[in-house]
Amino acid sequence: MELVLPNDANPLGNILGGKVMHLMDIAAAMAASRHSRRVCVTASVDSIDFLRPIKVGQAILLEAQVTDAARTSMEVRVNVYSENLRTGERHHTATAFFTFVALDEDGRPTPVPAVIAETPEEKRLQEEARERRRARLLRTGRLKDAAGGARTPQAVGGEASAAAAGGGGHPGDRGPKGAGVGGEEPAAEKSR
Ligand SMILES: CC(C)(COP(=O)(O)OP(=O)(O)OC[C@H]1O[C@@H](n2cnc3c(N)ncnc32)[C@H](O)[C@@H]1OP(=O)(O)O)[C@@H](O)C(=O)NCCC(=O)NCCS
Repeated sequence: MELVLPNDANPLGNILGGKVMHLMDIAAAMAASRHSRRVCVTASVDSIDFLRPIKVGQAILLEAQVTDAARTSMEVRVNVYSENLRTGERHHTATAFFTFVALDEDGRPTPVPAVIAETPEEKRLQEEARERRRARLLRTGRLKDAAGGARTPQAVGGEASAAAAGGGGHPGDRGPKGAGVGGEEPAAEKSR
């Protein structure tokens, strides 16, 4: 959660899109790193639609959730909300899907734990993530990898990791298993 300040705004007093994208990238990177316990880099961002402005003086809240993991990459959904701090009124302002790749100590892509989808919402998100992955790999000429991308939880072994806490994620799953930034209620401390 962050307060929107004049320096981050256009002449209309709305937060700049670039600032929002910056915060989204950071939130997504944190979720990916928490899932994999690795340094992660942004490989791709799907389109972002800005649905509503966020005004100076309002809070911007970000909620990030790892929706699926392939071999070394993870899809992270980031939802953005505005909040009027006086009234508590909150609006969804943007969503985007990021792909992050976990790197080892030598900077090479390295395997990540699978996402174990448990709730119907997590399962739906995971299914959709796999469809988006196929589309992404098709777009980047990597489709041959797509079929191998969807794994069983056993594929990596070791630390089994669940879909992160986030809208629809595991509320209590932010420890070693978790990967989320944000939560069911996209409340303040969650996006630190
Ligand atoms: C992301 C990066 C590490 C991938 O390196 P690479 O040599 O293509 O590695 P690989 O071919 O082994 O692919 C690794 C994974 O990345 C995925 N990937 C690579 N490019 C991708 C893209 N554009 N979109 C989605 N996934 C992508 C692959 O599908 C693969 O996933 P999987 O292992 O889960 O199947 C490399 O392109 C890179 O370092 N990019 C710059 C990242 C960066 O600095 N980002 C910050 C902004 S500049």
